[in-house]
Amino acid sequence: MKVDILLGLQWGDEGKGKIVDVITPDYSIIARFQGGPNAGHTLEFEGHKHVLHTIPSGIFHPSKKNVVGNGVVIDPVIFQREVEELLPHHVNIREQLLISRKAHVILPTHRLLDAASEKEKGTGKIGSTLKGIGPTYMDKTGRNGLRIGDVISDRFSEKYEHLKKKHLRLLSHYNDFNFELEPLEQEWLASIEFLRTMSFIDSEHYLNRELDNKQRILAEGAQGSLLDIDFGSYPFVTSSNTVAAGACTGLGIAPNRIGKVFGIFKAYCTRVGSGPFPTELHDDTGETLRKEGAEFGATTGRPRRCGWIDLPALKYAVMINGVTDLIMTKADVLSVFNEIKVCTHYRYRGEEIDHLPYSIDPEEIEPVFITMPGWRDDLTGIRSAGNLPAALEQYIEYLEAQLKVPIRVVSVGPDRSQTIRRESAMA
Ligand code: GDP
Ligand code: IMO
Ligand code: MG
Repeated sequence: MKVDILLGLQWGDEGKGKIVDVITPDYSIIARFQGGPNAGHTLEFEGHKHVLHTIPSGIFHPSKKNVVGNGVVIDPVIFQREVEELLPHHVNIREQLLISRKAHVILPTHRLLDAASEKEKGTGKIGSTLKGIGPTYMDKTGRNGLRIGDVISDRFSEKYEHLKKKHLRLLSHYNDFNFELEPLEQEWLASIEFLRTMSFIDSEHYLNRELDNKQRILAEGAQGSLLDIDFGSYPFVTSSNTVAAGACTGLGIAPNRIGKVFGIFKAYCTRVGSGPFPTELHDDTGETLRKEGAEFGATTGRPRRCGWIDLPALKYAVMINGVTDLIMTKADVLSVFNEIKVCTHYRYRGEEIDHLPYSIDPEEIEPVFITMPGWRDDLTGIRSAGNLPAALEQYIEYLEAQLKVPIRVVSVGPDRSQTIRRESAMA
């Protein structure tokens, strides 16, 4: 058996949580491979809305196992809150959730370092979610990090104090950054106690054994390909590999055990935080997208920047990830428009190009659009591909032809049921 991967092709928030929940019945195990509480994955069913940050999006299916892989970073405080929110929904967390001993732990001082660094950057800030993601991955690669295995060892206090001391030294170099660690630390230590009651595993052994046992595994990504530490719009990125290769390192799965790669994208484009966004709309159309798409961050509540779909960027993401199947979400949001624009090229140094150059800064590139007819039909009640309006089918087929990958699923609303599986002419 192979591991399939589902990951975002844009700047995050493509609807990964919703779709993972929908396809979980096809799998035995759902495994998150990177990121941490910077993620906000929204699921809606039976009139309830759930937002997950650390816990994989298969958790509402009682017979399925959910793994937090070694590539993930965990904030015990946010994790505890997340678990407590699940309790009224009959989730047997200690049975269903397994956490890698090699996952790294976010300290209160990581969050402070994140905030101090952003404050110092001023207008050049990344627009981080301030969850301590960057500093935690820095300690991981710097070989200073605290792992889940340390949390359950006798040397926990010693290791924690050692790392905290290092962080306090770093924090003392920031001017004008005041903080009170004590209350944050008390809350964190209480949550560490809670975390210790969870189930821990050597997830690389577990996952490979389950593959040998012919179990199907879905790897769930966080963020999106354009936020990848290597391939995203650096430095306005997150601190992990969000692309398909990240599933290998974040779970201990060899490349030859990867099966399908599901690439998920919105029918338009959004971004939250700073950094270049070639197709961003600063006008009423952008405002309409934000309003119709309820484009406000699931983790921070910040308004998301909105724009038209960007084919050069999508082509790049398809290439880097080896996407085998596409999933398009939020098609329903475009129903308000008479016409829809698609960025097909960039104007770059006097040429028209359809790939992503080294820099996508606004001074370097200008997006080139084509206009397609809209459909103006309410899609939210449609459940079969045969009932999709002709203009939407035309939009889908155009994107498929450009991206050279079939669009297998079209999402027409936030609810689990608002999902259409589609036979593609591309086979
Ligand atoms: P994720 O981070 O990729 O899991 O995505 P988020 O949950 O952060 O953001 C996606 C938002 O769009 C959530 O509020 C979802 O409930 C919502 N959503 C997902 N799919 C659709 C869709 O097809 N149509 C609409 N209107 N909303 C959707
Ligand atoms: P999901 O999994 C959208 C963005 C932040 C910021 C940059 C760096 O819900 O799609 P970080 O906190 O990682 O240091 O922030 O990345 N960002 C996301 N944007 N969706 C996410 O996750 C994101 N996680 C981080 O806004 O620009
Ligand atoms: Mg999100």
